[in-house]
Amino acid sequence: MITEQLQFEIEKISQSRLHGLEEDSLQFGKVFTDHMFVADFIDGQWTNMKITPYKDLVLSPATSFIHYGQSIFEGLKAHYGKDGDVFMFRPQANIARMKTSAIRMCMPPFPEDIFLDALKTLLSLDKAWMPKKDGSSMYIRPFMFGTDEFLGVKASDNYRFMIIMSPSGSYYKNPVKVKIETHFTRAASGGTGSAKAAGNYAGSMYPAKLAAEEGYQQLIWTDGKYHRNIEESGTMNLMMVIDDVLVTPKLSNTILEGVTRNSILNIARDWGRKVEERTVSVEEVVEALENGKLHEAFGVGTAATIAQINTIGYEGKDYELPAVADREFSNKISTYLEDYKRGRVEDKFNYLVKID
Ligand code: COI
Repeated sequence: MITEQLQFEIEKISQSRLHGLEEDSLQFGKVFTDHMFVADFIDGQWTNMKITPYKDLVLSPATSFIHYGQSIFEGLKAHYGKDGDVFMFRPQANIARMKTSAIRMCMPPFPEDIFLDALKTLLSLDKAWMPKKDGSSMYIRPFMFGTDEFLGVKASDNYRFMIIMSPSGSYYKNPVKVKIETHFTRAASGGTGSAKAAGNYAGSMYPAKLAAEEGYQQLIWTDGKYHRNIEESGTMNLMMVIDDVLVTPKLSNTILEGVTRNSILNIARDWGRKVEERTVSVEEVVEALENGKLHEAFGVGTAATIAQINTIGYEGKDYELPAVADREFSNKISTYLEDYKRGRVEDKFNYLVKID
């Protein structure tokens, strides 16, 4: 349990809602633990900081974020480790990214030390909700939104920051079929693409729906101007093994800086792999697909960790990728990350935060 002096109150649930987790049928993001963290930004400061029982929100219909989308979020995970320990994976990276998102969306960053304490305390309180099986995790969702009751278009003066937690199974059960999108755009240069802003996800849903009607589970997004260069895949960063090189689009203001992306690049470099973060053109990818040089393609993100891609569609033609079982790099890193997050290998990069 937390022993240090916390800057927020804790109101514990009188009776836990937990009646066994049924881990075999656990889906992503469908059940929520007993407690949540709440704080309000009022009169220029963060106040009303509290852990309370998980409950519904009561909001005015005029609440500003509903109308104008000043809303950001994060996603991070905790895992059940050997000897019953619970580890969070790189929470400081998500806390830092949420600050970047807040600044871009004209919102007040939440104090980083209290953020980390809130995460640790929630996990400690709701430890009984931790799923244990490999592939499962506690998915943690911090989020913040503007709460002014006002219909004028301006940055809200008031905000709510919250953290909820969801014991989750894997995000994708099978490899995905994706289509290179050459009409719609996820993010334009100078826009909000590198922030984890709710609206980025809203805008991606219609193109994703059209692609689903053609049988594709996800899109590979391309640059907003000419659709010549690869950017992201669905809600994830994209990585490929072309020849023997691990290739991923370089960061820009249209690409979200993924924590999983960064972790994989660090580990791959440590393993001595050839890694390239650079502009990746659609032309190059299609050529590599045609010449059998594209050996692996996968999305990387917190929710799925590694989402294998088995088919890439481009201009009406579907290219099949090598069998997932034959993918040396992504299978190896997937196993390593699972072991790493559960404390089964050395914490070489200082990524784990153990929960007391
Ligand atoms: C992730 O891959 O972690 C995401 O951002 C997806 C999430 C919005 C469910």
